[in-house]
Amino acid sequence: MTLPKLTVLATIIAGIFLLSNCADKPKEATPESQTITAPENFNREGVAVFSQNCSSCHPTKAGVDNGIAPSFAELKAGYLKKNTTEEAFVASMVGFLSAPAQSKSQMPELFDKYALMPNLGFTDEQYAAVARYIYHSAVEDVNWNENQYQQDLEYLKHAPKEATNYLKEGKDLALATKAVLGKNLLNAIQQRGTEHALEFCNTRAIPLTDSMAVALNASIKRVSDRNRNPNNAANQQELDYIAFAKNELAEGRTPKGKLTEIENKAIGYYPILTNKMCLQCHGKPQADITPETLSMIEKLYPSDLATGYGENELRGIWVIEMEK
Ligand code: HEC
Ligand code: HEC
Repeated sequence: MTLPKLTVLATIIAGIFLLSNCADKPKEATPESQTITAPENFNREGVAVFSQNCSSCHPTKAGVDNGIAPSFAELKAGYLKKNTTEEAFVASMVGFLSAPAQSKSQMPELFDKYALMPNLGFTDEQYAAVARYIYHSAVEDVNWNENQYQQDLEYLKHAPKEATNYLKEGKDLALATKAVLGKNLLNAIQQRGTEHALEFCNTRAIPLTDSMAVALNASIKRVSDRNRNPNNAANQQELDYIAFAKNELAEGRTPKGKLTEIENKAIGYYPILTNKMCLQCHGKPQADITPETLSMIEKLYPSDLATGYGENELRGIWVIEMEK
């Protein structure tokens, strides 16, 4: 059976509310941070996005082929061929990442082998930081992964932090989880076919190992007003945000994330939108969902409410709970 080539994963478009009153508690640098010296020209945002997102699909070691996405060494070589200056390199990478499309590809040969990269939902500034990080790192060196990259990761853990912006941290955690989920789904559908990939749309198996998640003692869940798994039903507060987000979509706006702070907790809410790929399990029975997949869903989730969606609709929300 030939599987349809996958298109894009959902874009989480969660903006930042400008809350004039949300003065964040500044966190003091830990004593350790003074004793570790920063690698030369340390690029915090670049390393953070790279290690928490990009590296979940793209191999960090030169020469490795994981069948899901090309290695950074391959990407860098391809981009350097067409872009001779750092500025051109960064600009064309940001151009692709901000709205992935074959028409923006610098390496069209990749589509013979891979599905189109999903839109990850970061800002252009974050994409530029990661593009600079790739440009300046020796990703083409087979030893980079074990040496310089590890030093960068180690420093990232200890580097002094700016005041915590919970709305942004929550969004970054949701996006990092989405990247892992996207990889698992792409991989499972390619290897086994949709009806056997059902368990891979489950986030509970994804461990939050990111240092920021650990520092904030964060927990992450996805809930919906039309949930498939009975454990993912939204509570009243979550339903309120869902109503807000649906209304924004109906008015043609992109729903922004929202933060609620109670006692010593900050809770971030962020929209989860559908794209074409999701419809093979959440779209219209028959038209989008094959009979095999449908009968598997009915067997595993007898009270499923999560079909009948179209593209770019609100499938549910991320709820990220962080300790302050
Ligand atoms: C869910 C998996 C996934 C994640 C996460 C991911 N990528 Fe990709 N990426 C791919 C796949 C698959 C391709 C190959 C097909 C293509 O070019 O779209 C790709 C292609 C690319 C390309 C080449 C684009 C072109 O065709 O010109 C660049 C550059 C790139 N990725 C950078 C990144 C960066 C930087 C990040 C982190 C911000 C990232 N990727 C995260 C899957 C992923
Ligand atoms: C291979 C089939 C499959 C695909 C493709 C798929 N899902 Fe799911 N989805 C499921 C299953 C099965 C569950 C229930 C998981 C569980 O038991 O927690 C689920 C659950 C969810 C939930 C949690 C709320 C609920 O209904 O239980 C959200 C949100 C969600 N999916 C969004 C998406 C989005 C967005 C996409 C596309 C990017 C997508 N899914 C693609 C099968 C799929």
